[in-house]
Amino acid sequence: MIEMFFRKVYGTTPDVVVRAPGRVNLIGEHTDYNEGFVLPAAIDRNIEFAGRKRADRIVQVHSLDFDGSVEFNLDDIQKDSKNSWSNYIRGVSKYLEKDGFRLSGADMVFGGDVPREAGLSSSAAVEVATAAFWKNLLHLEVDPVYLVKLSRKAENQFVGVPCGIMDQFISALGRENHALFLDCRDLDYRHVPLRDDVKIVVCNSGVKRALAQSEYEVRLKQCQQAVAQIASTGRAAKSLRDVKPADLEAARPVLSEILYRRARHIVSENHRVLEAVKVLEAGNLERFGELMNASHESLRDDYEVSSKELDVLVEVARKQAGVLGARMTGAGFGGCTVNLVRQEAAADFAEAVCRGYYDALGLKAEIYICKASQGALSI
Ligand code: GLA
Repeated sequence: MIEMFFRKVYGTTPDVVVRAPGRVNLIGEHTDYNEGFVLPAAIDRNIEFAGRKRADRIVQVHSLDFDGSVEFNLDDIQKDSKNSWSNYIRGVSKYLEKDGFRLSGADMVFGGDVPREAGLSSSAAVEVATAAFWKNLLHLEVDPVYLVKLSRKAENQFVGVPCGIMDQFISALGRENHALFLDCRDLDYRHVPLRDDVKIVVCNSGVKRALAQSEYEVRLKQCQQAVAQIASTGRAAKSLRDVKPADLEAARPVLSEILYRRARHIVSENHRVLEAVKVLEAGNLERFGELMNASHESLRDDYEVSSKELDVLVEVARKQAGVLGARMTGAGFGGCTVNLVRQEAAADFAEAVCRGYYDALGLKAEIYICKASQGALSI
Protein backbone atom coordinates (compact mmCIF):
# COMPACT_ATOMS: atom_id res chain seq x y z
CA MET A 1 0.00 0.00 0.00
CA ILE A 2 2.54 2.57 1.14
CA GLU A 3 4.75 1.73 -1.87
CA MET A 4 1.86 2.49 -4.13
CA PHE A 5 1.35 5.88 -2.50
CA PHE A 6 5.06 6.61 -2.81
CA ARG A 7 4.88 5.89 -6.52
CA LYS A 8 1.85 8.10 -6.83
CA VAL A 9 3.51 11.06 -5.12
CA TYR A 10 7.06 10.74 -6.50
CA GLY A 11 6.60 8.72 -9.70
CA THR A 12 9.27 6.16 -8.75
CA THR A 13 9.78 3.19 -6.43
CA PRO A 14 10.99 3.58 -2.82
CA ASP A 15 14.35 2.21 -1.57
CA VAL A 16 13.02 1.45 1.89
CA VAL A 17 9.70 0.63 3.52
CA VAL A 18 9.33 0.44 7.31
CA ARG A 19 6.52 0.27 9.85
CA ALA A 20 6.18 0.92 13.56
CA PRO A 21 3.16 -0.15 15.62
CA GLY A 22 0.96 1.73 18.07
CA ARG A 23 0.61 0.28 21.54
CA VAL A 24 -1.81 -0.52 24.30
CA ASN A 25 -0.70 -0.64 27.91
CA LEU A 26 -2.08 -3.66 29.79
CA ILE A 27 -1.05 -2.38 33.21
CA GLY A 28 1.47 0.05 34.76
CA GLU A 29 0.05 3.50 34.07
CA HIS A 30 1.97 6.71 34.79
CA THR A 31 4.72 4.61 36.32
CA ASP A 32 7.27 5.02 33.52
CA TYR A 33 8.32 8.58 34.44
CA ASN A 34 8.58 7.42 38.06
CA GLU A 35 11.22 4.84 37.08
CA GLY A 36 8.69 2.06 37.69
CA PHE A 37 7.28 -0.93 35.82
CA VAL A 38 5.03 -1.18 32.76
CA LEU A 39 3.48 -4.00 30.73
CA PRO A 40 2.44 -2.76 27.28
CA ALA A 41 1.91 -4.65 24.02
CA ALA A 42 2.44 -3.43 20.46
CA ILE A 43 -0.78 -3.66 18.44
CA ASP A 44 -1.50 -4.57 14.83
CA ARG A 45 -2.00 -0.96 13.79
CA ASN A 46 0.97 0.75 12.24
CA ILE A 47 2.55 3.88 10.91
CA GLU A 48 4.29 3.10 7.64
CA PHE A 49 7.02 5.00 5.82
CA ALA A 50 8.32 4.57 2.30
CA GLY A 51 11.26 6.59 1.05
CA ARG A 52 14.16 7.05 -1.25
CA LYS A 53 17.53 8.80 -1.04
CA ARG A 54 18.14 12.11 -2.73
CA ALA A 55 21.51 13.51 -3.74
CA ASP A 56 21.13 16.71 -1.67
CA ARG A 57 20.40 17.52 1.99
CA ILE A 58 16.68 18.14 1.55
CA VAL A 59 14.06 15.92 3.16
CA GLN A 60 10.65 16.04 1.61
CA VAL A 61 7.84 14.37 3.54
CA HIS A 62 4.32 13.76 2.38
CA SER A 63 1.70 12.87 4.98
CA LEU A 64 -1.16 10.79 3.63
CA ASP A 65 -3.34 11.45 6.68
CA PHE A 66 -2.89 15.23 6.56
CA ASP A 67 -2.73 15.26 2.77
CA GLY A 68 0.15 17.70 2.82
CA SER A 69 3.90 17.95 2.27
CA VAL A 70 6.78 19.67 4.02
CA GLU A 71 10.40 20.15 3.14
CA PHE A 72 13.33 20.69 5.49
CA ASN A 73 17.08 21.00 5.22
CA LEU A 74 19.16 18.56 7.28
CA ASP A 75 21.68 21.33 7.98
CA ASP A 76 19.10 23.50 9.72
CA ILE A 77 16.20 21.55 11.20
CA GLN A 78 13.62 23.81 12.77
CA LYS A 79 10.30 23.18 14.43
CA ASP A 80 7.26 23.70 12.19
CA SER A 81 4.33 25.21 14.04
CA LYS A 82 2.00 25.02 11.03
CA ASN A 83 2.59 21.39 10.09
CA SER A 84 3.12 20.07 13.59
CA TRP A 85 2.74 16.47 12.37
CA SER A 86 6.20 16.83 10.80
CA ASN A 87 7.95 17.67 14.08
CA TYR A 88 8.31 14.02 15.13
CA ILE A 89 10.24 13.36 11.92
CA ARG A 90 12.24 16.57 12.18
CA GLY A 91 13.11 15.87 15.84
CA VAL A 92 14.38 12.33 15.28
CA SER A 93 16.37 13.43 12.22
CA LYS A 94 17.86 16.39 14.09
CA TYR A 95 19.10 14.32 17.04
CA LEU A 96 20.61 11.66 14.76
CA GLU A 97 22.54 14.40 12.97
CA LYS A 98 23.53 15.91 16.30
CA ASP A 99 24.90 12.53 17.41
CA GLY A 100 27.15 12.52 14.36
CA PHE A 101 25.20 10.41 11.89
CA ARG A 102 25.37 12.02 8.48
CA LEU A 103 21.90 11.58 6.98
CA SER A 104 21.16 12.04 3.31
CA GLY A 105 18.33 13.95 1.70
CA ALA A 106 15.25 11.81 1.11
CA ASP A 107 11.77 11.77 -0.34
CA MET A 108 9.27 10.12 1.98
CA VAL A 109 5.62 9.25 2.28
CA PHE A 110 3.97 8.13 5.49
CA GLY A 111 0.58 7.19 6.86
CA GLY A 112 -1.14 4.47 8.79
CA ASP A 113 -4.05 3.21 10.80
CA VAL A 114 -3.07 4.08 14.39
CA PRO A 115 -5.87 6.45 15.42
CA ARG A 116 -4.55 9.89 16.36
CA GLU A 117 -5.01 11.47 19.80
CA ALA A 118 -6.61 8.26 21.04
CA GLY A 119 -3.93 7.26 23.54
CA LEU A 120 -2.51 4.51 21.31
CA SER A 121 0.81 6.29 20.78
CA SER A 122 0.60 7.25 17.15
CA SER A 123 3.28 9.90 17.77
CA ALA A 124 5.72 7.41 19.28
CA ALA A 125 5.05 5.18 16.26
CA VAL A 126 5.93 8.06 13.90
CA GLU A 127 9.16 8.70 15.82
CA VAL A 128 10.18 5.06 15.91
CA ALA A 129 9.27 4.58 12.24
CA THR A 130 11.44 7.60 11.39
CA ALA A 131 14.34 6.08 13.33
CA ALA A 132 13.80 2.73 11.60
CA PHE A 133 13.64 4.50 8.24
CA TRP A 134 17.04 6.17 8.66
CA LYS A 135 18.53 2.97 10.08
CA ASN A 136 17.46 0.97 7.03
CA LEU A 137 18.08 3.63 4.40
CA LEU A 138 21.64 4.30 5.60
CA HIS A 139 22.41 0.84 7.01
CA LEU A 140 23.20 2.30 10.43
CA GLU A 141 24.63 -0.17 12.92
CA VAL A 142 22.87 1.03 16.05
CA ASP A 143 21.41 -0.46 19.17
CA PRO A 144 17.58 -0.41 19.11
CA VAL A 145 17.50 0.94 22.68
CA TYR A 146 19.64 3.89 21.57
CA LEU A 147 17.02 4.69 18.92
CA VAL A 148 14.25 4.32 21.52
CA LYS A 149 15.96 6.87 23.77
CA LEU A 150 16.58 9.19 20.85
CA SER A 151 12.91 8.98 19.80
CA ARG A 152 11.83 9.86 23.32
CA LYS A 153 14.28 12.76 23.36
CA ALA A 154 12.70 14.05 20.14
CA GLU A 155 9.30 13.99 21.83
CA ASN A 156 10.57 15.57 25.09
CA GLN A 157 12.92 18.19 23.75
CA PHE A 158 11.96 18.90 20.16
CA VAL A 159 8.18 18.43 20.21
CA GLY A 160 8.04 19.50 23.86
CA VAL A 161 5.93 16.72 25.43
CA PRO A 162 7.45 15.41 28.69
CA CYS A 163 6.48 11.75 28.20
CA GLY A 164 8.17 8.69 29.71
CA ILE A 165 9.88 5.97 27.70
CA MET A 166 7.16 3.33 27.51
CA ASP A 167 5.57 4.21 24.17
CA GLN A 168 8.74 4.43 22.09
CA PHE A 169 10.11 1.32 23.78
CA ILE A 170 7.16 -0.91 22.99
CA SER A 171 6.75 0.43 19.45
CA ALA A 172 10.37 -0.52 18.82
CA LEU A 173 10.73 -3.72 20.81
CA GLY A 174 7.31 -5.36 21.03
CA ARG A 175 7.01 -9.01 20.11
CA GLU A 176 4.23 -10.88 18.33
CA ASN A 177 1.81 -12.55 20.78
CA HIS A 178 3.69 -11.14 23.77
CA ALA A 179 3.44 -8.26 26.19
CA LEU A 180 6.66 -6.52 27.24
CA PHE A 181 7.60 -6.18 30.88
CA LEU A 182 9.87 -3.17 31.21
CA ASP A 183 11.74 -1.77 34.16
CA CYS A 184 11.83 1.93 33.31
CA ARG A 185 14.80 2.57 35.60
CA ASP A 186 17.46 0.40 34.01
CA LEU A 187 15.50 -0.53 30.85
CA ASP A 188 15.76 -4.26 31.55
CA TYR A 189 12.95 -6.00 29.75
CA ARG A 190 11.49 -9.36 28.94
CA HIS A 191 8.65 -10.55 26.74
CA VAL A 192 5.74 -12.30 28.42
CA PRO A 193 3.62 -14.65 26.27
CA LEU A 194 -0.08 -13.86 25.87
CA ARG A 195 -2.46 -16.78 25.54
CA ASP A 196 -4.41 -16.96 22.33
CA ASP A 197 -7.67 -17.88 24.05
CA VAL A 198 -8.01 -14.30 25.29
CA LYS A 199 -8.20 -11.15 23.22
CA ILE A 200 -7.03 -7.65 23.91
CA VAL A 201 -10.00 -5.48 23.05
CA VAL A 202 -9.44 -1.74 22.84
CA CYS A 203 -12.45 0.58 23.10
CA ASN A 204 -11.91 4.09 21.80
CA SER A 205 -14.15 6.59 23.62
CA GLY A 206 -13.85 8.95 20.66
CA VAL A 207 -13.08 11.75 23.11
CA LYS A 208 -9.87 13.57 22.25
CA ARG A 209 -7.54 13.93 25.19
CA ALA A 210 -8.06 17.65 25.69
CA LEU A 211 -6.57 17.99 29.16
CA ALA A 212 -4.02 15.26 28.68
CA GLN A 213 -0.90 17.36 28.21
CA SER A 214 -1.39 20.01 30.87
CA GLU A 215 -2.65 17.54 33.49
CA TYR A 216 0.16 15.13 32.60
CA GLU A 217 2.67 17.85 33.47
CA VAL A 218 0.85 18.54 36.72
CA ARG A 219 1.01 14.82 37.68
CA LEU A 220 4.69 14.68 36.80
CA LYS A 221 5.43 17.62 39.12
CA GLN A 222 3.26 16.21 41.89
CA CYS A 223 5.19 12.95 41.78
CA GLN A 224 8.49 14.85 42.01
CA GLN A 225 7.18 16.86 44.97
CA ALA A 226 5.94 13.73 46.70
CA VAL A 227 9.36 12.03 46.39
CA ALA A 228 11.14 15.12 47.71
CA GLN A 229 8.84 15.31 50.71
CA ILE A 230 9.06 11.59 51.44
CA ALA A 231 12.86 11.78 51.17
CA SER A 232 12.85 14.71 53.60
CA THR A 233 11.58 12.31 56.28
CA GLY A 234 14.86 10.44 56.06
CA ARG A 235 13.87 7.66 53.64
CA ALA A 236 16.25 7.09 50.75
CA ALA A 237 14.07 7.65 47.69
CA LYS A 238 15.22 8.91 44.29
CA SER A 239 11.86 8.37 42.71
CA LEU A 240 8.48 6.92 43.71
CA ARG A 241 9.82 3.61 42.46
CA ASP A 242 11.88 3.44 45.66
CA VAL A 243 8.95 4.07 47.98
CA LYS A 244 7.42 1.05 49.71
CA PRO A 245 3.81 1.11 50.94
CA ALA A 246 5.03 1.28 54.56
CA ASP A 247 7.33 4.26 53.75
CA LEU A 248 4.42 6.06 52.18
CA GLU A 249 2.22 5.52 55.23
CA ALA A 250 5.02 6.67 57.52
CA ALA A 251 5.47 9.83 55.46
CA ARG A 252 1.77 10.55 55.23
CA PRO A 253 1.84 13.31 57.89
CA VAL A 254 4.22 15.42 55.76
CA LEU A 255 2.24 14.99 52.54
CA SER A 256 -0.83 16.91 51.45
CA GLU A 257 -3.87 14.73 50.78
CA ILE A 258 -3.42 15.15 47.02
CA LEU A 259 0.29 14.27 46.98
CA TYR A 260 -0.42 11.27 49.21
CA ARG A 261 -3.04 9.94 46.80
CA ARG A 262 -0.89 10.57 43.72
CA ALA A 263 1.98 8.71 45.35
CA ARG A 264 -0.31 5.90 46.51
CA HIS A 265 -1.35 5.29 42.91
CA ILE A 266 2.26 4.96 41.74
CA VAL A 267 3.37 2.80 44.66
CA SER A 268 0.37 0.45 44.39
CA GLU A 269 0.51 0.35 40.57
CA ASN A 270 4.12 -0.80 40.61
CA HIS A 271 3.09 -3.65 42.90
CA ARG A 272 0.22 -4.53 40.62
CA VAL A 273 2.52 -4.74 37.60
CA LEU A 274 4.91 -7.08 39.39
CA GLU A 275 2.04 -9.34 40.45
CA ALA A 276 0.42 -9.09 37.01
CA VAL A 277 3.59 -10.39 35.32
CA LYS A 278 3.79 -13.25 37.79
CA VAL A 279 0.17 -14.33 37.33
CA LEU A 280 0.31 -13.91 33.56
CA GLU A 281 3.34 -16.18 33.42
CA ALA A 282 1.47 -18.68 35.62
CA GLY A 283 -1.60 -18.51 33.36
CA ASN A 284 -3.87 -17.02 36.01
CA LEU A 285 -5.81 -14.61 33.84
CA GLU A 286 -8.62 -14.15 36.35
CA ARG A 287 -6.19 -12.55 38.78
CA PHE A 288 -4.63 -10.56 35.98
CA GLY A 289 -8.07 -9.13 35.20
CA GLU A 290 -8.64 -8.20 38.85
CA LEU A 291 -5.37 -6.29 38.84
CA MET A 292 -6.44 -4.41 35.70
CA ASN A 293 -9.68 -3.47 37.44
CA ALA A 294 -7.82 -2.30 40.54
CA SER A 295 -5.52 -0.24 38.33
CA HIS A 296 -8.52 1.57 36.87
CA GLU A 297 -9.95 2.36 40.29
CA SER A 298 -6.61 3.74 41.40
CA LEU A 299 -6.24 5.90 38.26
CA ARG A 300 -9.80 7.15 38.68
CA ASP A 301 -9.79 7.87 42.42
CA ASP A 302 -6.17 8.46 43.46
CA TYR A 303 -4.48 9.71 40.33
CA GLU A 304 -7.63 11.33 38.89
CA VAL A 305 -6.81 10.94 35.21
CA SER A 306 -9.91 9.07 34.07
CA SER A 307 -13.01 10.69 32.58
CA LYS A 308 -16.75 10.10 32.61
CA GLU A 309 -16.57 8.43 29.19
CA LEU A 310 -13.75 6.09 30.18
CA ASP A 311 -15.54 5.17 33.42
CA VAL A 312 -18.74 4.36 31.51
CA LEU A 313 -16.83 2.21 29.00
CA VAL A 314 -15.27 0.31 31.88
CA GLU A 315 -18.57 -0.12 33.73
CA VAL A 316 -20.38 -1.38 30.65
CA ALA A 317 -17.47 -3.70 29.82
CA ARG A 318 -17.43 -5.32 33.23
CA LYS A 319 -21.09 -6.34 32.87
CA GLN A 320 -20.39 -8.44 29.79
CA ALA A 321 -19.84 -12.18 29.64
CA GLY A 322 -16.25 -13.32 29.13
CA VAL A 323 -14.54 -10.15 30.32
CA LEU A 324 -11.62 -10.68 32.69
CA GLY A 325 -10.58 -7.07 33.28
CA ALA A 326 -11.25 -3.55 32.02
CA ARG A 327 -9.37 -0.31 32.57
CA MET A 328 -8.42 2.98 30.97
CA THR A 329 -5.11 2.86 29.13
CA GLY A 330 -2.53 5.53 28.33
CA ALA A 331 -2.34 9.01 29.81
CA GLY A 332 -6.11 9.35 30.38
CA PHE A 333 -8.61 12.23 30.01
CA GLY A 334 -10.16 10.51 27.00
CA GLY A 335 -8.71 8.03 24.59
CA CYS A 336 -9.17 4.32 25.10
CA THR A 337 -9.88 1.51 27.52
CA VAL A 338 -8.19 -1.89 27.35
CA ASN A 339 -10.14 -5.05 28.06
CA LEU A 340 -9.07 -8.64 28.42
CA VAL A 341 -11.83 -10.82 26.98
CA ARG A 342 -12.18 -14.55 26.39
CA GLN A 343 -11.78 -15.17 22.69
CA GLU A 344 -15.19 -16.75 22.11
CA ALA A 345 -16.89 -13.75 23.75
CA ALA A 346 -14.90 -11.00 22.00
CA ALA A 347 -17.24 -10.26 19.09
CA ASP A 348 -20.37 -10.07 21.30
CA PHE A 349 -18.41 -8.01 23.82
CA ALA A 350 -17.50 -5.46 21.16
CA GLU A 351 -21.09 -5.07 20.05
CA ALA A 352 -22.51 -4.87 23.58
CA VAL A 353 -19.99 -2.25 24.72
CA CYS A 354 -20.76 -0.09 21.69
CA ARG A 355 -24.47 -0.33 22.39
CA GLY A 356 -24.13 0.28 26.15
CA TYR A 357 -21.86 3.30 25.62
CA TYR A 358 -24.26 4.79 23.11
CA ASP A 359 -27.27 4.18 25.39
CA ALA A 360 -25.52 5.80 28.36
CA LEU A 361 -23.92 8.83 26.70
CA GLY A 362 -25.17 9.03 23.12
CA LEU A 363 -21.58 8.58 21.92
CA LYS A 364 -20.09 6.17 19.41
CA ALA A 365 -17.16 4.04 20.52
CA GLU A 366 -14.80 2.37 18.09
CA ILE A 367 -13.65 -1.11 19.01
CA TYR A 368 -10.41 -2.76 17.93
CA ILE A 369 -9.82 -6.44 18.64
CA CYS A 370 -6.04 -6.40 18.70
CA LYS A 371 -3.24 -8.82 18.13
CA ALA A 372 0.02 -8.26 20.00
CA SER A 373 2.57 -7.50 17.30
CA GLN A 374 6.21 -7.18 16.46
CA GLY A 375 7.97 -3.87 17.13
CA ALA A 376 9.76 -1.91 14.42
CA LEU A 377 13.27 -2.68 15.67
CA SER A 378 12.75 -6.09 17.27
CA ILE A 379 15.37 -8.61 16.51
C1 GLA B 1 1.62 8.59 27.83
C2 GLA B 1 3.12 8.78 27.89
C3 GLA B 1 3.80 7.55 28.48
C4 GLA B 1 3.16 7.15 29.81
C5 GLA B 1 1.65 7.10 29.69
C6 GLA B 1 0.95 6.87 31.01
O1 GLA B 1 1.31 7.57 26.93
O2 GLA B 1 3.64 9.02 26.61
O3 GLA B 1 5.18 7.78 28.63
O4 GLA B 1 3.55 8.03 30.83
O5 GLA B 1 1.11 8.28 29.11
O6 GLA B 1 1.25 5.62 31.52
